Amino acid sequence: MKILLLGPNGQIGYELQRSLLSLGHIKACDRKMVDLGKLDDLKSFIFDYHPNIIVNAAAYTAVDKAESEQDKAYHINVKAVRVMAENAKKLDALLIHYSSDYIFDGQKKGAYTEIDKTNPLSIYGETKLQGELAIKASTCKHLIFRTSWLYSARRTNFVKTIFHLAKKQKTLNVVNDQIGSPTSAKLIADVTSDCISKINKHKVSINNINGIYNLTATSETSWHGFAKHIISEAQDLGAVFLVKPENIHSINSSELNLPAMRPINSTLNTQKLCDTFKLNLPSWQILTGRVLKELILNI
Ligand SMILES: NC(=O)c1ccc[n+]([C@@H]2O[C@H](COP(=O)([O-])OP(=O)(O)OC[C@H]3O[C@@H](n4cnc5c(N)ncnc54)[C@H](OP(=O)(O)O)[C@@H]3O)[C@@H](O)[C@H]2O)c1
Repeated sequence: MKILLLGPNGQIGYELQRSLLSLGHIKACDRKMVDLGKLDDLKSFIFDYHPNIIVNAAAYTAVDKAESEQDKAYHINVKAVRVMAENAKKLDALLIHYSSDYIFDGQKKGAYTEIDKTNPLSIYGETKLQGELAIKASTCKHLIFRTSWLYSARRTNFVKTIFHLAKKQKTLNVVNDQIGSPTSAKLIADVTSDCISKINKHKVSINNINGIYNLTATSETSWHGFAKHIISEAQDLGAVFLVKPENIHSINSSELNLPAMRPINSTLNTQKLCDTFKLNLPSWQILTGRVLKELILNI
């Protein structure tokens, strides 16, 4: 089986390079090989390689910058995704793509299901939604995993930012009016390969499961709760910070005055994924512990 992995150096992409290894021949295509801004190059690359599966871990992910770079975000998150989907259709390949909680406005009480009404609050969220719709319109075989609050031991993310700030500052102010389920890139990569493996072994038929699946860790917290957890767990593992957990203060999102609005409620209901692929997902606390060990103890 030939797998084309786009965005191999991103948070999810890096973990996919490991998790997909046993499933077939992987061609990891980074920005140097194909810039997703060049749609003709992308199309030729897909055709030349002729993959059975395209895994798209690439995206424009700069949420605040997208407010002033609308065209760039749209180009990568919608136009390039449309090219992937239309060519997956021509090759009868399966397209695996990742989407976001930012397609919702966060006003729902309780966790969002896959069929809840979308209403993005930001340009980034709008482009992620349009990317989903482009895939659906192409009628290619596809799995779209919607996830939230992503982190890993690599690149820039909330866990690494808290680490960095906690070493420089004695107090931290962190938002407590947004809730979600922090999810590690490793979980997403492992679930992706497990789903592909189950499809290959005909444990599930792609004809019946085409569509969108929420994929996050279980249970929820606020950014403030997450920050306190990160610091106290990291201290237990031997990390040394200037800040103490009791000096991590709560603030409202409005106090940050960021360019892009975020949903207040980012929690996603993962029942459909668990039922379809017979999965049990771990809690965000368990996943955080694993990434902290990687960051602090290098294991
Ligand atoms: N981060 C989150 O909190 C979050 C939450 C929900 C959903 N998601 C979704 O999950 C997916 C993966 O996110 P992530 O955090 O792993 O992303 P990431 O770490 O920001 O990585 C994005 C990848 O896309 C590549 N890329 C961007 N523009 C490109 C271009 N013009 N040509 C070629 N490659 C390009 C980047 O290449 P370089 O390595 O060269 O920069 C990078 O490898 C995305 O679809 C994202 O929307 C993320």
